[in-house]
Amino acid sequence: MKRFWALILAAALLLNEWCVVNSVPRRNGTSTTASELSGILKKIVSPCTTEQTNCNNPDLDIVFALDSSSSINDTEFKAQKYATNMIAEFIDRHSPIAPDGTRVGALTFATDVVREFELNEHTGLESVQGYIDAIGRRMGGTNTKLALETAQLMFEDMFLEESWKLIWLHTDSMSNLGDPRPRATSIKKQGWIICVVVIGNHENVDGIDDIASPGCVVKFGSFTEYAKVAKKAQGPDQFDEFGYQG
Ligand SMILES: *[C@@H]1O[C@H](CO)[C@@H](O)[C@H](O)[C@H]1NC(C)=O
Ligand SMILES: *[C@@H]1O[C@H](CO)[C@@H](O)[C@H](O)[C@H]1NC(C)=O
Repeated sequence: MKRFWALILAAALLLNEWCVVNSVPRRNGTSTTASELSGILKKIVSPCTTEQTNCNNPDLDIVFALDSSSSINDTEFKAQKYATNMIAEFIDRHSPIAPDGTRVGALTFATDVVREFELNEHTGLESVQGYIDAIGRRMGGTNTKLALETAQLMFEDMFLEESWKLIWLHTDSMSNLGDPRPRATSIKKQGWIICVVVIGNHENVDGIDDIASPGCVVKFGSFTEYAKVAKKAQGPDQFDEFGYQG
């Protein structure tokens, strides 16, 4: 029994470590670069190192959590959706979205949370992107706590043991409706990953760093910058139909 717990602990430590390795010490106010973003995403989609022989890259269950609070205007919300689609595209290229592969769900959060689509609803990149495009902007506060709780429920409702769980959460301000940290801690204890995209005030990092898995905080001055960097992170040969030139 002791041995068993030692193994579990070792696995948990390993999971914790992968992101730390990737974390870059950040000067105050610096934005995440395209290569840093693609580095973080690559770690998630292909965690196997070349030395590991019996390692298969996992399928992912991803919930995108889009901030739809009142402080975000229509242009910014569109940029957020565009960037989310770029992240989905990056992941799809390495870990294809398919019924028996990587699955994507999405929610929006303001004062309340709307489950926009579930993990089993869309079985390919194009369909996922179309539905993200169609998400409407709402208004309200920033209920990060409820967003995390809802993402966890979305995983549990379509539970697949073997898939890695990733919450890709956007926010332009601190949660102002309850403390999201206890929930974040319990989600991470399960070995699930929380990445946080922080838009705007870079100094306001304390609570955010506690929510995110180690090294999984990315920061941008604006949603437009995030969209450009997410586009650029695709690599040089990805064409741009929306005009977010990197
Ligand atoms: C960043 O700058 C702000 C003031 O501009 C300061 O309060 C904060 O402590 C700084 N953070 C770090 C990590 O240096
Ligand atoms: C939306 O917000 C951004 C950033 O604050 C600002 O630059 C832009 O002018 C705003 N757009 C509209 C249509 O209000």
